[in-house]
Amino acid sequence: MTATTAASAAYIVAGLLFVLSLAGLSRHETAKAGNAYGIAGMAVALVATVGLAWRDGDALAVGLIAVAMALGAAIGLWRARIVEMTGMPELIALLHSFVGLAAVLVGWNGYLSVEGAGSSGGGAGEAEELGLPVGIHSAEVAIGVFIGAVTFTGSIVAFLKLSARIKSNPLVLPGKNALNLGALAAFAVLTVVFVVSPSLGVLAAVTVLALALGWHLVASIGGGDMPVVVSMLNSYSGWAAAASGFLLDNDLLIITGALVGSSGAYLSYIMCQAMNRSFLSVIAGGFGNEGSTTGAGTVEGEHTETTAEEVAQLLRDADSVVITPGYGMAVAHAQNAVADLTRTLSDKGVPVRFGIHPVAGRLPGHMNVLLAEAKVPYDVVLEMDEINDDFPKTSVVLVIGANDTVNPAAAEDPGSPIAGMPVLHVWEAEHVVVFKRSMSTGYAGVQNPLFFRENTRMLFGDARERVEDILRAL
Ligand code: TAP
Repeated sequence: MTATTAASAAYIVAGLLFVLSLAGLSRHETAKAGNAYGIAGMAVALVATVGLAWRDGDALAVGLIAVAMALGAAIGLWRARIVEMTGMPELIALLHSFVGLAAVLVGWNGYLSVEGAGSSGGGAGEAEELGLPVGIHSAEVAIGVFIGAVTFTGSIVAFLKLSARIKSNPLVLPGKNALNLGALAAFAVLTVVFVVSPSLGVLAAVTVLALALGWHLVASIGGGDMPVVVSMLNSYSGWAAAASGFLLDNDLLIITGALVGSSGAYLSYIMCQAMNRSFLSVIAGGFGNEGSTTGAGTVEGEHTETTAEEVAQLLRDADSVVITPGYGMAVAHAQNAVADLTRTLSDKGVPVRFGIHPVAGRLPGHMNVLLAEAKVPYDVVLEMDEINDDFPKTSVVLVIGANDTVNPAAAEDPGSPIAGMPVLHVWEAEHVVVFKRSMSTGYAGVQNPLFFRENTRMLFGDARERVEDILRAL
């Protein structure tokens, strides 16, 4: 067996492991195994790639790969160990930006070593070595650089918004849809020009145009739609990697990129359905979103405060309890106290279930992971659709650090920025207790009329401390 055949076989094995990884990650019970398949696939891929460079006798390339891998692995390990679960989305956004930047660099390198080197004679020959007419290579360069640059700046804006370094409000430039469509049309024209007559100037124009489009697309999207944006950028980063795979003639990169691209696109689609958003509207940067500007700060009324002792009494008398956790439970690290409360109430004969909104927290599955970590049994953790009809029959709902995901304005106020987004109908329960530190808004920046309802009581303070107070009172 030649080294090339061995590498191809290794790439197929790695590709299969990545498919198994995705399948595993789609369910709680198999997520750990899915992760292990992914790690194994990446290890096989790395060994095969380094092996190929070694076979080619390119000691400098192997040395550079080794240094890059050691540096990357050290930084990756350090970041992964210190990152808070609540900081994962911005870390992921930052990592997507690296994939985008890498695709831009691979594209530029492709141009410089083929079309750009054409005049010295070596370039077209190199394209032919890859079995490609130069025109196809040029198209790959333009498309790869475009997708990479859009991913790069889009992910940087997502990182800045998610880490609250810039405001999460949507940027509304006059004629923003025309700007986006114009940029796409200009890209199509530039690509044709580049294929007919490749030049540094045209490639630079494609790069600048794509950097600006990526920035504008994500800046135009409001806070409420950010979950979809993160998964959409994940998809873009996959397509950017696939484009690099074509340029580098690396089949595994094409397969892996396509897997990430298509699964990210499908996840974005599922999330859009869950949030009742138009998929096209979100991927086109909030296309047609100009209208909804009411909502923030428009709710007025009196809220009623309660105490841990009163809540303990409510819980003792309850026939059934539903807990709807949100981002605040993660910030407060309250999941273990919440799990203890669940066990204590169950021991007292009060059934407790959880209602999980698909975008509760700051990344898909955030709440499920925290509750699993705290050893809350899977069978009492229900999805929004599974529990929403049960609220009218529920004695007490504990809203622990959730806000946008339990906001009745989404269902009742057509002018609200989150109008139409499905929410947990907690207000239909007999009693609702909201755990938070103040009357401030949630991530989408929209006021919540739930806090002023007659059956709602506010329990102010850090969620973990308040749950522990209730446990003591029980
Ligand atoms: P949010 O609407 O963000 O509300 C979180 C609430 O937690 C806030 O009202 C905050 O109020 C409270 N809080 C913060 N720290 C707390 C603490 N230590 N103790 C007690 N309460 C605390 O959360 P949600 O309901 O989970 O909704 C998620 C939002 O994030 C949605 O808008 C969603 O679109 C967006 N988002 C989701 C994702 C994904 S993929 N899930 C990604 C990005 C964005 P105080 O400040 O008054 O305490």
